Amino acid sequence: MFFWKRRPKPVPQRSGESLARHMYARLATEVRDVQRVTAAHCEAIQRTGLSMEGTTSIEDCIYLYLLIRYFDRKNVFEIGTFIGTTAVAMNQAIKRNGGTCTTTDPKDYGFVPPDSGIRMIEGPAELGLGILHREGRTIDFAFGDWYFKQPTIDLAAKAFTPDCVIAVHDYFPDDKGEENVVKLSETYCQRRTGAWLLPTGAPWRMPDGMTVNACTAVFIPDTLKITEESVRAGGGRP
Ligand SMILES: C[S@@+](CC[C@H](N)C(=O)[O-])C[C@H]1O[C@@H](n2cnc3c(N)ncnc32)[C@H](O)[C@@H]1O
Repeated sequence: MFFWKRRPKPVPQRSGESLARHMYARLATEVRDVQRVTAAHCEAIQRTGLSMEGTTSIEDCIYLYLLIRYFDRKNVFEIGTFIGTTAVAMNQAIKRNGGTCTTTDPKDYGFVPPDSGIRMIEGPAELGLGILHREGRTIDFAFGDWYFKQPTIDLAAKAFTPDCVIAVHDYFPDDKGEENVVKLSETYCQRRTGAWLLPTGAPWRMPDGMTVNACTAVFIPDTLKITEESVRAGGGRP
């Protein structure tokens, strides 16, 4: 007897540039602040002699900030803390929204500012997400700066809200971002329909010269009703 494994439905992909411009137009006045705080965090770490290699660019940090603010996210979950640059940037947004930011890494590098309110869970992503799930918390914004492995994806189906926005870093050919997009498209996104907004042509220069996004791809679920047409019409988020 032959069994054919059902082929996963393709998940639509388009550029995230229109949405980024739309978000920036609404939130530009806040961006200098997050840029300043994130840069100060990195400079303080650099003074300890640690290299910035492996940390995330300011353009990506600004993009994450805009997404969290624009979609009014309340519970952020991060895979891959490292020196905490993205955690600090996302936390700036979540503080304004009145939410929480949790970040996970098997190694605590010790650079998450203790007074920031950021919760750092030392351990792999599935450990951190499992703890949050057992505490009854749900996640409405996830950022992967490491691989979404199957145990995390299995937990995400339970712990992520239906309108959870998922961002993945390093969307380059054969890099972890592309791998995450493929893996999540074949698994998580089969149940939660939506579209991937890719960093096509990024960084995107805004009218005031600020550059937004470098290599972050974002999954926007259909429940958020963000279409290219709604963004072009200036409606964006309902
Ligand atoms: C590219 S770095 C993250 C950079 C960070 N976003 C920043 O802005 O500094 C990737 C991190 O993922 C961490 N990592 C490795 N395996 C992991 C896992 N299973 N769960 C969570 N993080 C993991 C690594 O230790 C590393 O610190």
